[in-house]
Formats: sequence, structure tokens, C-alpha cells
Amino acid sequence: MSDFVSGLPKAELHLHIEGSLEPEMMFALAQRNAITLPYDSVEALRAAYRFGNLQDFLDLYYQGMSVLLREEDFYDLTLAYLRRAAADGVRHAEIFFDPQGHTGRGVAFDTVFQGIHRALRDGEHELGVSSKLILCFLRHLSAEDAMATLEEAMDYRGAIVGVGLDSTENGHPPEKFVGVFERARAAGFRAVAHAGEEGPPAYVWGALRALAVDRIDHGNRALEDPALVRELAQRRMPLTVCPLSNLRLGGVKTMAEHPLKTMMDQGLCVTVNSDDPAYFGGYVNDNYRAVQDALGLSDAELARIARNSFEASFLDSETKAAHLAAVDAYVNAG
Ligand code: ADE
Ligand code: ZN
Repeated sequence: MSDFVSGLPKAELHLHIEGSLEPEMMFALAQRNAITLPYDSVEALRAAYRFGNLQDFLDLYYQGMSVLLREEDFYDLTLAYLRRAAADGVRHAEIFFDPQGHTGRGVAFDTVFQGIHRALRDGEHELGVSSKLILCFLRHLSAEDAMATLEEAMDYRGAIVGVGLDSTENGHPPEKFVGVFERARAAGFRAVAHAGEEGPPAYVWGALRALAVDRIDHGNRALEDPALVRELAQRRMPLTVCPLSNLRLGGVKTMAEHPLKTMMDQGLCVTVNSDDPAYFGGYVNDNYRAVQDALGLSDAELARIARNSFEASFLDSETKAAHLAAVDAYVNAG
């Protein structure tokens, strides 16, 4: 198999830091924090990672994050992700975190933020991986709860680039959070939202029109609506696609049925990402290789995806240009 993917410079734009909590670390943190997990072993936990849908996964994801209590826990989690990402040729990462998953358990917003932030700074020094942080609101909770979380985040504005929307999609349309996103955008935050992962095309329209997002996370079900595909293509709206996540959560039955290539052929700006790598069986290069193998993507198509990842990032245009030049140099050296 071609090793084109491994050295290809890339950005990762859809990664939930709590979803990078590997079972081994979960057990180590449980021990460090004197927490009892409802599993006897790492193997028993991994064996439980069989999901029929998004909610099956989310139930275990929220249970898993219960071991994250202290600043060091968030630090260790984040630095481990960055090391793994660096090994995959990731030069820049835009990382989601779910503060309400922690504040709801009595862990202070500042504890979560400081641990992640310090690891991002150290990771950039140690590994040369730059990063930005995106605060996600849990859409199964109320808009009032999201607004209160946004108010807490105002003090950290310089260190949090944007806001996002995740958790249970169906039944929680983007319109529920219009006021929160308006206030966030007015305060200078960029905006993204999970949409069309399980939810209908109307939720992708909602993310575009009601929330005025800069990127759509997933977006798979947009393909059901030709007018929506045209709109996304025309606006060059990036989609952060997560192939192994889609497979593990039942969005596609086999990787050969994955819509990534169709999206590209319809002119959409797609990127490839890992979502929750500890739960879905692979980091970003595993995702690139999965679509390379199953869909027969050429090196030129893979390079296109890597270029899209930098173009769709929240980096400034000079930094984007430098990364794009690195992709070109890599392609030309091949
Ligand atoms: N939270 C973590 N991963 C998620 C996903 N794939 N969809 C929605 N919420 C999430
Ligand atoms: Zn996600």
C-alpha cells in the first residue's frame, strides 16, 4: 500500500479531545483519582465499543469522561493526543472540548481550560503542532445552559477561537441555539456546528442560515438535497468528514459506501478527520487510509483533502499559504 498518507502534511479540524481518551489512560486516571469504572479491564471496556447509533456512543463517551477531574488529567489527555497527531503528520489541530460535560459534574471551567491550554502550548513547543480551541455546546441541554457556558467563556476569548454544537442531533435543531450563536459571533468567536451526521438536510440549512457557521461538522446527509449541495459548493463551505466515525455509528454500512468521493465529485470542500479516535478505532491517518483503500482515492485526491484542511482552518492567510506550500513540496518530492 502507498505510504503517501503518512508524511502528507495535514490539519485536523474535527477532534473532540474527550474522544481521544484511550482505555489505557481512562484506567490510569480512574486509579489516580480513586474512581471505580464499571469494567474489569481495558479489554472489557474496548469490547463495549460497539455502537448502533450516535446515542449509544455518547452514553459511553460521557461515562468515560468521568475520570477527568484535575487540571493534570486534561493536560495529559491533550498532550497524548498531540503526540499521536504529530506522528500522523498533523501540523495544525482545531480541537473541540465539551465544558458542560465537566462543569455538570462539578469540575470548574477554569480547570478544564487550563489543563488543555497548557498542553496545547507545550505541544506546540515540543512537537511543532499549532492548535486552536473550539468550545462545543451540548445540544441535548438547554439554550440557557449554553448561554451560561458562553458567558463563562468570555473571559477566555483570546484563547478560544470559536464555538461549536455537538451531542445528540435529532430533536435538537440548530435553531434552538440561534441566540447563543448570535452572541458568540458578536463577541468575535468563529462558529461551527455538527449537522447532517444523523439529522436531516434541514439541520444543515439551519446551521448555515440560523447559526451562520464557518464550517459544517460531518454534513453527510446534505447529499440528500441537491439545492443544499449547490449552496455548500457555491459558498465553498468546508465539511469536516469523519469516515471511521460514520462507519462505527452506522451512518454507512461499509466504507465502500462512504459518500466522501461523491462529495468531492460534487465540488464540496471536504476534509478528513478522526472525531473520537479512541472510540472509533483510528486517528487521522487511519481515516485517510480507510477512504484511500475503500474508495480508491488517488494521491492527487488525498493531497486535495490535505489542502482543504488548511484552507478550511481558522489560521491566518499567511500561515495557510506556508502550509499549502508544504503540501505542494511534499507532492512534488514524491
Ligand atoms: N460528541 C463527540 N463526538 C460526537 C459526534 N460524532 N457527534 C455528536 N456529538 C459528539
Ligand atoms: Zn464530532
